[in-house]
Amino acid sequence: MDWDELYSACMDCHGCDLADTRTNVVFGVGSRASKLVFIGEGPGEQEDIKGEPFVGRAGKLLDDELAIIGLDRSKVYICNIVKCRPPRNRDPLNTEQDACAKWLEAQMALLQPKIVVCLGRIAAGALISPDFRITRQHGQWFEKDGIKYMAMYHPAALLRDESKRPETFVDLKTLQRELISHDIL
Ligand code: URA
Repeated sequence: MDWDELYSACMDCHGCDLADTRTNVVFGVGSRASKLVFIGEGPGEQEDIKGEPFVGRAGKLLDDELAIIGLDRSKVYICNIVKCRPPRNRDPLNTEQDACAKWLEAQMALLQPKIVVCLGRIAAGALISPDFRITRQHGQWFEKDGIKYMAMYHPAALLRDESKRPETFVDLKTLQRELISHDIL
C-alpha cells in the first residue's frame, strides 16, 4: 500500500465504535520522509475537529518541546495509537487499540523510522512493553527490530504537573544526542 491508498482506506475505517462518534479521522502529520516519529495516544477535541494530531494545548507544548531541540512539526512525523477520538478523552480501550493497530503498522512500514518517541504511558504500553512504567522508564532507550524507542511524559501530563518539566528537558536532550548520532539532526 502506498501513502495515498493507506490514507483513503484509513479515512473510511469503521473498525471500532469510535467511528460512530468521531468528526474526523486523525491520520498523522509531518514529513513522510522523516526517520523520527512521535506517537501519542489518540485525538482530543481539537484534533477531532481539525483532523490533525496535537493541535490543542498539549500540541502547543509539543511544538515548544520540538523547538528546544531545533525541530518543528514539518520535519518529523506525528501520529497516534488510535486515529479517532475516544469520547470525553478517556483512555482508548484495548479493543480500540487493537482494531486501529493496522494503520500505525502500515504507517511504520512506509516510514521505516530509526527513532520512535512514545508520548505518554498509553503509547509506551502499546509500543514498548505492556507493563511500561512511565515515571521510572521515561528517557530510556529500548531497541526492537532495529528501531530505537523512547518514551517521554505526555505533554498533557506536563500541563497538569509542571514539576515533570525538568525531566522532560533531560529526555529531550537525550533524544537530541541520539538524533545527532544518527545524522537525523
Ligand atoms: N493527545 C494525544 O495523545 N494525541 C493528540 O493528537 C492530541 C492529544
